[in-house]
Amino acid sequence: MTQPPPTASRHRFPPDFVWGVATSAFQIEGAAAEDGRGESIWDRFCRQPGAIADASDGLVACDHYHRWAEDLDLIAGLGVDAYRFSVSWPRVQPQGRGAWNEAGLDFYERLVDGLLARGLQPFLTLNHWDLPQALQDRGGWAQRETAQHFVDYAIGIQRRLGDRLAAIATHNEPWVMAVLGHETGLFAPGQRSRATAMQVSHHLLLSHGQALQALRAEGSRARLGIVLNLAPVQPATDSPADIDAARLEDGKLLRWYMDPLFEGRYPPDVLAHLGADAPQVAAGDLAAIAAPMDFLGLNYYTRSVVSAAGPWDVRTSGNPVTDMDWEVYPQGLTELLLRLHRDYAVPPLYVTENGGAFRDALVAGRVHDADRTAYLAAHIDAVGEALRQGVPMAGYMVWSLLDNFEWASGYAKRFGIVHVDYATQRRTLKDSALWLRDFLRGQAALRGGRRAVAGG
Ligand code: FCB
Repeated sequence: MTQPPPTASRHRFPPDFVWGVATSAFQIEGAAAEDGRGESIWDRFCRQPGAIADASDGLVACDHYHRWAEDLDLIAGLGVDAYRFSVSWPRVQPQGRGAWNEAGLDFYERLVDGLLARGLQPFLTLNHWDLPQALQDRGGWAQRETAQHFVDYAIGIQRRLGDRLAAIATHNEPWVMAVLGHETGLFAPGQRSRATAMQVSHHLLLSHGQALQALRAEGSRARLGIVLNLAPVQPATDSPADIDAARLEDGKLLRWYMDPLFEGRYPPDVLAHLGADAPQVAAGDLAAIAAPMDFLGLNYYTRSVVSAAGPWDVRTSGNPVTDMDWEVYPQGLTELLLRLHRDYAVPPLYVTENGGAFRDALVAGRVHDADRTAYLAAHIDAVGEALRQGVPMAGYMVWSLLDNFEWASGYAKRFGIVHVDYATQRRTLKDSALWLRDFLRGQAALRGGRRAVAGG
């Protein structure tokens, strides 16, 4: 058996570095038809034959809507500082505009107060993909008016919860919503048009910038930002064709989001490539998108290797591969962080998601997920390395607290550091959770030590 990685890191993390675990509403809450929650595009998408690998849905999920207190106790027991969760927009505003659902707002109020009572910082994401179906029926993110509805939703959340939040992220992974939702159709709402996808990406960015301005006008004290899924994009070989293909892919995945957010423009090479599929951009949009942020969240799982000849075979890398067929490539996280720091004037950075799906077995009350522990330890090290090289890293959050509904893969892919038995809803800490707890105890001891030195 492989030895578990050491719980002490060779890197020193600053005392105010935020350690956390992450989830999202649709993936864990369940209670899809309870207490006035409206339908989301993911409820609808799950009913589409063939859309979800195991034909499952989010109706019950991890039943977190009822088990939130037990789940918050689990989080507190890990010794983390923060919990990243998302609000289900249709739970608090069933039609996506107009009337608010008090019962839904009450749920998030209990959750936020429960976090604070346990000494945990609430990191709230407004949009982790579950758009109200009623807005999709009006055209969804392809329609500019959805941006205005999102701003109103953001203000409503700020007024109810804002005084108790550590951070608010507007959107989770706009690239995924735009491209997987509207170009490849693999995710809700399942559309297949590149022009639509690009218009959606623009409206997501626009609504982010407008929401940020509105939240600041409301006097928000939470740190404000967005969460992007980014990766270093590398050519499979050094042939000119592969290098060109990688440059374009980097443009579509990374620069398409980073350039407008930090430089107020879309990358010219991608615009030229898109031609007639480029989005319509109104005067003032790019200035709104570039509104200053307090933090940038990054979700990192693997690198992207691009070959002009077609899909690159991950197995040729020789590196381990997770149950999602994603290559384990921790050094890519350091490379990505260094590149962002070098190329853009970035605010403090958080890794808002990082983790792996592995085939876990619950045997006699234990899950020996050494692969996941190794994955987490290596990526935490990669963050430490970026810190050492001067990147302004502010935190790291594991995806995910719980095994949960992994979108089009259903429940078969398990990302949790806590195992969920879906038949009984019983939660069991996996070895990786125990490792993280010990690791964080070590970090806390270091912090305590340094504080004592500073004070004495
Ligand atoms: C990210 C999503 C998150 C989870 C992980 C595995 O793209 O933000 O909800 O599904 O992937």
